[in-house]
Amino acid sequence: MGRYIPDQVIDEIAARADIVEVVQSYVPGLQHAGSRWKACCPFHQEKTPSFIVNPASNTFHCFGCGKGGNVFKFVMMIENLQFPDAAQMLARKYNVIIPEPEHRHFDKKEKEAAQAAYNLRERVFLLHEKLASWYRTNLVNGYAAKAAEYFKTRRMDPVFAERFMIGAAPDLWDGMIQWATREGFTIEEMKEARLVSESRQTPGKFFDFFRNRLIFPIWNEQGRVVGFSARQIDPAQGGGKYVNSSESVIFKKSRILYGLNFARQEIAKKGFAVICEGQMDVIAMHSAGCANAVAAQGTAFGNDQAMILHRYTENITLALDSDSAGVSAILKDAAILLPLGFNLKVARFPGGKDPDELLKNAGAEAVRKAIDDAEDFFAFLLAKESENQDLAQPAVKTKIAQKLLKFIMLPDSEVTRDSYIQWLAGKLSLHTDAMLAEVHRLSAKEAHRNRFQRETRGQEKNGEQSPKPEQLPESVANPILAKALAELLEVILSNEESADMVKADLPPEMLDNGPFAVAVETVIQARMNDEWADAPAMITRRLLECEFDCGPLSALLAAEPEKHSRSYCLKTVRDCLKRIRILFFEKQLADLKKNFSAMPRGPERDEVLKKTVELTRELNMLNHPQRRETAKPVKRYLLPEDSGGSIPGGNYE
Ligand code: CTP
Ligand code: MN
Repeated sequence: MGRYIPDQVIDEIAARADIVEVVQSYVPGLQHAGSRWKACCPFHQEKTPSFIVNPASNTFHCFGCGKGGNVFKFVMMIENLQFPDAAQMLARKYNVIIPEPEHRHFDKKEKEAAQAAYNLRERVFLLHEKLASWYRTNLVNGYAAKAAEYFKTRRMDPVFAERFMIGAAPDLWDGMIQWATREGFTIEEMKEARLVSESRQTPGKFFDFFRNRLIFPIWNEQGRVVGFSARQIDPAQGGGKYVNSSESVIFKKSRILYGLNFARQEIAKKGFAVICEGQMDVIAMHSAGCANAVAAQGTAFGNDQAMILHRYTENITLALDSDSAGVSAILKDAAILLPLGFNLKVARFPGGKDPDELLKNAGAEAVRKAIDDAEDFFAFLLAKESENQDLAQPAVKTKIAQKLLKFIMLPDSEVTRDSYIQWLAGKLSLHTDAMLAEVHRLSAKEAHRNRFQRETRGQEKNGEQSPKPEQLPESVANPILAKALAELLEVILSNEESADMVKADLPPEMLDNGPFAVAVETVIQARMNDEWADAPAMITRRLLECEFDCGPLSALLAAEPEKHSRSYCLKTVRDCLKRIRILFFEKQLADLKKNFSAMPRGPERDEVLKKTVELTRELNMLNHPQRRETAKPVKRYLLPEDSGGSIPGGNYE
C-alpha cells in the first residue's frame, strides 16, 4: 500500500537534503570539479569518473550508464527503496517530520492497513535498536552470567566491545519477550522482526529466538541495527556455533557487510578494504588498528556485497582463515571479485588460524604486519600451487599455468590480464607466446571436460583431443541462441517470478554447457533451493569450471541489475523461451535431415522421417500458434532453402 506524503513535505525534504552530502555518504570518492562534483559511478562499473553531482540543480547524472535524477531517486536506487521509504530516510536525516497519513484519504480499514505498513518497518528498526542496548546491558550488568563468563575468555578490548555493542541473551525461554512486552512491543512486531519462534506443540506460544548466547548486533551501511548474530557459549549447547537473524523487512543478508558502518571512512582513507571471515575477526582487526575491515554476514561473500564495496574502493585484502576451508573461500571470493575489476591481495596469519587468534597470540603489531605484508592474489595462488611441486617438470608447469590462467582470465581489463600473463610466463620461465596459446586453447576448449559430459561418461581421461569447431555447444556456436539465453538470464536474475516460470517451462535438455546455458540452469537450481538471491555468486563460481569464453557473461553479472516491470519480465521470458524452443527443434531437425539423406530405406529411416514430421509440427505450432494442428506443416521445414527465418527478434548484433 502506497503511503501519502504531502507535496509541501516532499519539497521541504528536497530543500533541506544536500545531495552532495547524501551522495558522499555512499560514495566517499566524490570530488569537487568546478561547480560540480565527480566520482566513479556507484551504479555501474567504471574506471574513470563519469558520475556527476550538480548541487545547483540538486541532481546527479552518470554519463556512463545514463542513470540520474534527484536526491530521492539516488536514495531509492542505492538503498533499493520505494519512494516513501527513501523520503522517510531523508526526512529522518534532515529532521523533517512527515505527518501521519490524512484520514480522509482512506476508509477505516484502508487507514488501519496504511498506518500499520507505515509504522511496521520503523517499529522493527526501533525494536532492534533498543534490543541491542538491552543485550548489552545484560552482559555488562551480569544478568547473563554464563555468557559474561564465556565473554571473558575471548579477551576482547573493552573499548571495542562497547563500540561493537557486544551483548548477551539470557538463559531464559522468554526473557526477551517479557522485556519487549514491557517496552510496548507486540508479539506481531517481534514476529515481523524474526526475534521469536513459535512453539510446535503449542501453537500461539512463543519463545525467544536467541537464548543463552553472546550477541553481536548487525548494522546496515547507514549504522542502524538490522539483525543479530549469536555465538554459543558452550559447545555442548545445541543449535550450531553461530545462530543468525533470519531475513526480515529490514534485513537482507546478501546486502550486509558486517562492520561497514564503522569501516566506511577508513576504507576511503586507506584506499582498501579488508575482508574477514566473521564478526570476531572484524573486531580483532579494528582493535589492532585496521578499521577498514568488514565481513560477509553468516553466508558466503557474494556479488551484492562486492558491488557495495565497489562504491568505496577497488582494492581488497582478503584476511580469511589459514585452514583449507579458508583457502577455498579465497578462491571463491576471487572468482567474484576479479571480474568486477578489484585488485586483490591475500593476508596470511601464521601465528593463528585467523586474525582474532593472531591478535590474542601475538598482539596488534603482528596483525597490522600481516595486513601490510599481504601478497598479491596471483602470487599467493602461484605459491600455493607450487607447494611441494617440481617446477622443472614440463607437465607440472602446464598444470600450474592452467590453474592460474583460469583466474588471470577473469579480470575485464585486457591490460591487467596481459600483465599477469607476462608475469606468470616469467615466473615459470615460459615464453609469453606459449602462454597466450594456452589462453586460446583454454577459452576454446571442448565441452568434454564440462559437467554434463563428466556425469554421463564418468571420469575424464588425460590427453584429450582438442576440439573440432562443430563440437562447440550450440549455445556458443549459434549467436541467436546465445542472445536469447542472455536476455532470458538478465530477466530471471532480476525477477524471481520469471525464474519460476523458466523452472517450470524450460526442459533441461535444451540447456547445453555453454556459459549462458549453464548460468540459466544455475538460476533455476538456485530458485529450486530457495537461494535465488545467491544465484549471481553461484554463477560466478561455476564460470571457473567453464571452458568457453565467459567474458560477455561476466559483463552481464557485473552490471547493476536492471529493475524491469513484472509484465516486461514475464513477456520477455515467454518470448525467449519460445525462441529457445524453436532453435532447439530446428537444430534437431537439421541434424536429422543430415542423416536422413544418407540412410538406406528401412524401419530406421521411417523412424527418422516420423521424428522429422513431429518436429516440424512442433515448430509450426510455435511459429504460428493460431493455426494449431490444422496447418499443413511438413513441407515448409523440409525445404532446404528455408532457414527458419521466422524467429522473432532473432537478429544478433
Ligand atoms: N558462521 C555462521 N554459522 C556457523 C559458523 C559460522 O554464521 N555455524 C559465520 C559467523 O558469522 C562467523 C563466521 O561465519 O563469524 C566465521 O566462522 P568461524 O571461522 O567458524 O568463526 P570465528 O569467526 O573464528 O568465530 P569464533 O572465533 O567465535 O570461533
Ligand atoms: Mn575465530
